[in-house]
Amino acid sequence: MKTKITEMFGIQHPIIQGGMHHVGYAELAAAVSNAGGLGIITALTQPNPEALAEEIRRCHEMTDKPFGVNVTFLPSVNTPDYPGYIKAIIDGGVKVVETAGNNPQQVLPPLQEAGIKVIHKCTSVRHALKAESIGCDAASVDGFECGGHPGEDDVPNFILLPRAAEELTIPFVASGGMANGRSLTAALAMGAEGMNMGTRFIATQEAPVHERVKQAIVAASELDTRLVMRPLRNTERVLTNDAVERLLEKEKRLGDDLKFEDILDEVAGVYPRIMKEGEMDAGAWSCGMVAGLIHDVPTVKELIDRTMAESEGLIRDRLAGMLDS
Ligand SMILES: Cc1cc2nc3c(=O)[nH]c(=O)nc-3n(C[C@H](O)[C@H](O)[C@H](O)COP(=O)(O)O)c2cc1C
Repeated sequence: MKTKITEMFGIQHPIIQGGMHHVGYAELAAAVSNAGGLGIITALTQPNPEALAEEIRRCHEMTDKPFGVNVTFLPSVNTPDYPGYIKAIIDGGVKVVETAGNNPQQVLPPLQEAGIKVIHKCTSVRHALKAESIGCDAASVDGFECGGHPGEDDVPNFILLPRAAEELTIPFVASGGMANGRSLTAALAMGAEGMNMGTRFIATQEAPVHERVKQAIVAASELDTRLVMRPLRNTERVLTNDAVERLLEKEKRLGDDLKFEDILDEVAGVYPRIMKEGEMDAGAWSCGMVAGLIHDVPTVKELIDRTMAESEGLIRDRLAGMLDS
């Protein structure tokens, strides 16, 4: 399948693996890129720019296909060394950067001068238009159903994607709730040039996370996610567990008085304990409603191959067949 995104990024299939904290290591990124998609390493999971440079080097060892790096600009207690991370990306010969969170304007000139394509992840049409106006090459349009940070507008992809298609001139991919060939076909119909998956890629053989995390996603239904940190305007969609229920109880009790410090136990530094150690109740971790569509733990190649076969089948047989009478 050829789309503006496969052409822009030099990949075989229009499937991107979104950056994921403590999941997006070289092993997963390389597996996705080797299977013909675009794998993405998560910069801020690495403790410093030197560690990111090493992760990029490891990824080059595992694949000769293009891969990307995610740079997330979110509110954090200690501002990361962004210039250092950007330098590691440029020096590492990375082809694509996925930015997310705050406006990436400052990092565009050095990246684009180095020939790197920038795709900005946005949860609203106005942010996507802003990304376009500052010169981003593409957008990843992330609907309300997504795992992670859906923003505060709560517009699901059935509205958000066609709205993006009405307004944007740069190509965009659909993100949030994407799992299979049906998702890809629908995304293309709604104007996207491909799709970005997060949660679906965690439940794969190659995802370097504890087996219990994968099984939790397989066991979860579309009813099992919760929105946390809404009162702080830093909403995150997570899989429910004991810590999340405790956090929500605090949010209810403290109301407008809630401060980030009140929920530190449930959110700060919990990712390594969950993803690496498999302590499933250690805290809140991002997970999309798409968990309801995830029933197995295939290899990345099996997942991508069957997604493409299903999508091509849907387009050729089901949809085109509806036109033959
Ligand atoms: C465990 C997890 C961690 C994530 N961490 C990040 C991150 O650090 N930066 C980022 O831009 N997006 C992050 N995301 C969002 C994904 O890149 C992607 O946009 C999202 O998962 C898409 O929705 P889906 O889960 O329904 O596929 C994360 C998602 C998950 C599930």
